[in-house]
Amino acid sequence: MADQIKLYYKNVTADIVGQEHGLSLDQFKYYTDQIAQTVNSINQQVADGKLPFRRLPYDQQMVQRTKDVAGEMRGRYDNLVVLGIGGSALGNIALQTALNHPFYNLLPSDRRAGPKTFVMDNVDPVQFQGLLDLLDGQLDRTLFNVVSKSGETAETASQFLIVRNLIRTRRGASKLAENIIVTTDPASGTLRQIAARDGYITLAVPPGVGGRFSVLSQVGLFSAAMCGIDIEGLMAGARDMDQRVSKTELVENPAAIFALIQYLFYGQGKTLSVMMPYSYQLKDLSDWFRQLWAESLGKDKTLDGKPAQIGPTPIKALGTTDQHSQVQLYREGLNNKVFTFLEVEKFASQCPIPRELEQVESIAYLGGKSLEKLINNEKIATEYALVASKRPCLTIVFPEISAYCVGQFIYMLETATSIAGSLFNLNTYDQPAVELGKQATFALMERAGYEELAKKMAASIQRDKKFLV
Ligand code: PA5
Repeated sequence: MADQIKLYYKNVTADIVGQEHGLSLDQFKYYTDQIAQTVNSINQQVADGKLPFRRLPYDQQMVQRTKDVAGEMRGRYDNLVVLGIGGSALGNIALQTALNHPFYNLLPSDRRAGPKTFVMDNVDPVQFQGLLDLLDGQLDRTLFNVVSKSGETAETASQFLIVRNLIRTRRGASKLAENIIVTTDPASGTLRQIAARDGYITLAVPPGVGGRFSVLSQVGLFSAAMCGIDIEGLMAGARDMDQRVSKTELVENPAAIFALIQYLFYGQGKTLSVMMPYSYQLKDLSDWFRQLWAESLGKDKTLDGKPAQIGPTPIKALGTTDQHSQVQLYREGLNNKVFTFLEVEKFASQCPIPRELEQVESIAYLGGKSLEKLINNEKIATEYALVASKRPCLTIVFPEISAYCVGQFIYMLETATSIAGSLFNLNTYDQPAVELGKQATFALMERAGYEELAKKMAASIQRDKKFLV
């Protein structure tokens, strides 16, 4: 099919980057059976209902309700503010950057398909107060989408309390449900209870879908639909990719090849994985992927409980910007990285470069070309230079940046994460190490029940002036 995304992987092979830094075709052959078994077993888990994120693109009812709620609300608000963090925010941000106008919020309202959209995934006081200042006087035309599976995440809960208080004191308690919509666990949790009490419209974080796998649920789809993003197209892309990543034949399955390459390189000491889109629109998808890969694969024991510190480190970079920041290191620093470029064949705008200053020889060659040609040639040039330094490179090729292609990309990498988790033999879907920091925050913020931890922490967190210069 013409608009399928493709994975190009010749530049990871030993033929191209040499024996020491490349993969041999024998290695691929050696893993063919294991990959077939792995994909088969994942397919079985999907069939048994154990991996509900893989069924999201088929949930037509969920898509329809998202569209209905968004359709009803879109014209009523000038601003949409998503309050969430981690898996409850990164997908939203990625979809907005990929599929909206790059200066969406600055466009006049008649050139936007929906309200201005802000995703607040931090509790920096100046940033948050800055948003509240910006919204001052527009509260009645602002919808806050509180997204939290647990409802207890300190960042999102604090933002929610600030916003709820503001609406209640400025507009009255009876208006809360006009300004707040909640996305949370459909049955339980703190936020679900508050939503029932305050009468908010609610959307669901589907049971069994972890935050980092939730972008294709109402977590990510609602803000997308509010801005007129084609969420049916996203789901169609994901469904088409589902056909490809369910194949047990290694060479036909892009998720399996991606996962295997990353796994093999990790075993050969290339523990860092750089994703470098040559497209501003795709830059936050590499941020979304960073969480997916890091939280899923950074584990300190294998599935059978054996201690092991496993974890490829995902790094985001942006072409061409980071050519002028990181590529020196990437070519001459430690050869411990595998590179994944994201390339776009046809951008929505080519942006021609006019024949201006033709008498200035050093820049005249640019005239008559386009920024599209420049960015794509810079990608080829950077890959050429990396390969010359024996650095293995992959490319994921987008025929264009459409909802359909973005849906394919998301689904491919989610499935690749499952396959990589199986290859590394770890639990892909938990994140126990995030807990201690969350609990320590509760203790420091004096949440009841965390007094013992607060006491335990007191000595170790006291700043020793001897070491303060
Ligand atoms: O991927 C994850 O599970 C995390 O990043 C969570 O999404 C994040 O901690 C926010 O959690 P919650 O949605 O419960 O507020």
